[in-house]
Amino acid sequence: MGQLQRRFESLTASMPAGVWSAPGRVNLIGEHTDYNRGLVLPICIQPRIFVAAAPRVDGRLRGWSVQQEDAFEVELAELAPGRISGWAAYVCGPAWVLRELGAAFSGADLLIDSDIPSGGGLSSSAALQVAIALTLSSLAGRPLEGKKLALAAHRSETEFVGVPCGVMDQVVISLGRHGTALLLDSADLSFKFLPFEPARSGLSLLVIDTGTRRHLRQEGYAERRATCEAAAQALGLPSLREASLDLLASGPLSDPQRRRARHVVSENDRVLRVARALERSDFATIGQAFLASHRSLRDDFEVSASELDLAVEAAMEGGAMGARLTGAGFGGSVIALARTQDRDRLVSHVAAAFNSAGLVHPRIFEVAASGGARWDE
Ligand code: GLA
Repeated sequence: MGQLQRRFESLTASMPAGVWSAPGRVNLIGEHTDYNRGLVLPICIQPRIFVAAAPRVDGRLRGWSVQQEDAFEVELAELAPGRISGWAAYVCGPAWVLRELGAAFSGADLLIDSDIPSGGGLSSSAALQVAIALTLSSLAGRPLEGKKLALAAHRSETEFVGVPCGVMDQVVISLGRHGTALLLDSADLSFKFLPFEPARSGLSLLVIDTGTRRHLRQEGYAERRATCEAAAQALGLPSLREASLDLLASGPLSDPQRRRARHVVSENDRVLRVARALERSDFATIGQAFLASHRSLRDDFEVSASELDLAVEAAMEGGAMGARLTGAGFGGSVIALARTQDRDRLVSHVAAAFNSAGLVHPRIFEVAASGGARWDE
């Protein structure tokens, strides 16, 4: 019996029925494209959220987390969007969605443990909701799988928690496979697995978590989404997926609209370029596309932060082939692709740059493409 099961037993005086888990993700490329019906190319990473759980029969949901001081207890029948705040919302959201979908479950005890840094742009909140949706649907006897699992977790985030996010995180966390990146078309949710094993070419993918956490992130995200939708409308298009650079140059857009749209259109193109390069293991092209993506997110989409720019610059000076912010931006993490032989030099270079700028020491770790949500034991 593992530590999590023992802890569950000491909290609830019963054994868990099982342990389920879901990973964090990094997006290789395709940022702020998913809610514009565009292309994304994420991978699952090794840090995961684990959930030990047992069913209840009294209509109550009780939750504990190894990382949080406060526990919660709610009546399932009383769950409604906007009623729950804090980390409990990410646990109650999937429970509410499953009941809306008619799943037969009458309560549960849940203990959560996570090693995904929260707020680091690695999708810890989507991982939690996917893990809970999988856990609760399994306890109800009908485990949600694949896109159904992703869409249940996405509905929890948008309708219950109230964040207007795209589908990328939930889809890759539900479907991701070891050694592959997922090329997802957000317009129709069609997808393809592409090989992503940089280690076979002597390369490493590093995450640099800058430790910056911006409170404006949610508002900034919603504002960018609204601007993109307004730009598409001004162009008379259903979404920016149908736009081209020529159309943007001649169309009736305001200044921020034009630059936001230019990022989205050029980023979709970069995703395709990286997807083609992955098929030939052409990592030099991938590195260049990472840099171009970062510049576009910094200058046109304006979602970078000085710490993210510093991490990208220092990684490049330390020998990276390419680096970019990953996730929504406004703080969080950068990914850097480098030869494994240059990894230590890069790490010390980034650490030294943060040190001389008077910033906290960034957390730097190597990631590999890992498996998606699953029943562990
Ligand atoms: C967050 C959202 C995703 C996506 C990214 C930006 O991670 O949850 O849907 O929009 O930001 O690419």
